[in-house]
Amino acid sequence: MLKHTPVCAADLISPDPQPFKWRMGVKPLDNDKWLLVDRHRDAELEEIGRLIDAQRDEIIYSEPSAQAGCEELSGEVLRHLRQRPDLETLTINQDRHQAPIEAIRRVVQEDLCLLERRPEGWTMTACAVAIPTQWDVPSKYGKTLDVIHEPVPRYDSDLAQPMRTFFDRLRPETPVWRANRTLTDDPSLRLMPQRRHEPMSDDISVANVADRVWLRVEYQTLRRLPQSGVIVFTIRILRQKISSVADYPEALGELVRSLTDMPEDVRGYKDSTWRHAGLIKDWALSTGQLTNEALTKS
Ligand code: HEM
Repeated sequence: MLKHTPVCAADLISPDPQPFKWRMGVKPLDNDKWLLVDRHRDAELEEIGRLIDAQRDEIIYSEPSAQAGCEELSGEVLRHLRQRPDLETLTINQDRHQAPIEAIRRVVQEDLCLLERRPEGWTMTACAVAIPTQWDVPSKYGKTLDVIHEPVPRYDSDLAQPMRTFFDRLRPETPVWRANRTLTDDPSLRLMPQRRHEPMSDDISVANVADRVWLRVEYQTLRRLPQSGVIVFTIRILRQKISSVADYPEALGELVRSLTDMPEDVRGYKDSTWRHAGLIKDWALSTGQLTNEALTKS
């Protein structure tokens, strides 16, 4: 039976290198925590279903070569989720007009990407990404990891080579997880790319930032499937209001430290996150949640 350990966004904040550098930041994945199920499952799956029905072409992509990997993934998902007493009888209803990855996406809270090794590099040959964090999903269809990450400043210098080596070496018995963090005033599950530069509201201030801004963590896992050899990348969104992140002073301190101290090119890429982080810093200092001393300690 799966152990049920709720995970919240603040739990996944760990220190970033100083000075700034993107890092792989992968850690061994406990199999119990591959797919997370929480009390929002029914509501989220209903919303995901509606999003797919309305915008399938912007969410679902599948090349013929991904078929074997998707079938294997389907079996893995069922095997994993059926360990929960409340999901023992779960099925994946595959309509014959539907891509298999769509049918899988309708029963998990995670967005899904499937990658195959091609001569040009690891390539996303299928995906079901309904709730991206400010990125343009269709522009990544059928693309390699290097092309997918083109908008990320410093990707070439910090990540391209380590990622190539890592993906080639990933083995089925050693899955991993990592996390990305964003600050947003938009509580929606699906965040469109313009939100990077245009916060939803222009009335966020030091006085209301704790109640209006959310920490949004992408809990990402990477697993290689043993039969097909594909790599499955899952992205689970965890959201928490800043007022409740304050109950985790170390996480709050690390967030403010790292997100207010980004170099200019990265700041431009994470523009609304950087702007919110400045307000959160002023709020946390003015209310005594953080001190200047805590923020400068390494
Ligand atoms: C170990 C594996 C990976 C690492 C270290 C990594 C690293 C990163 C980093 C540092 C960013 C910028 C995040 C930020 O805003 O703070 C990013 C963005 C992104 N990553 Fe990854 N990534 C990995 C795997 C993947 C995979 C497998 C995919 C999809 C197949 C993917 C898709 C993306 C996308 C779509 C973005 C946003 C790009 C945009 O702004 O258009 N990543 N990644």
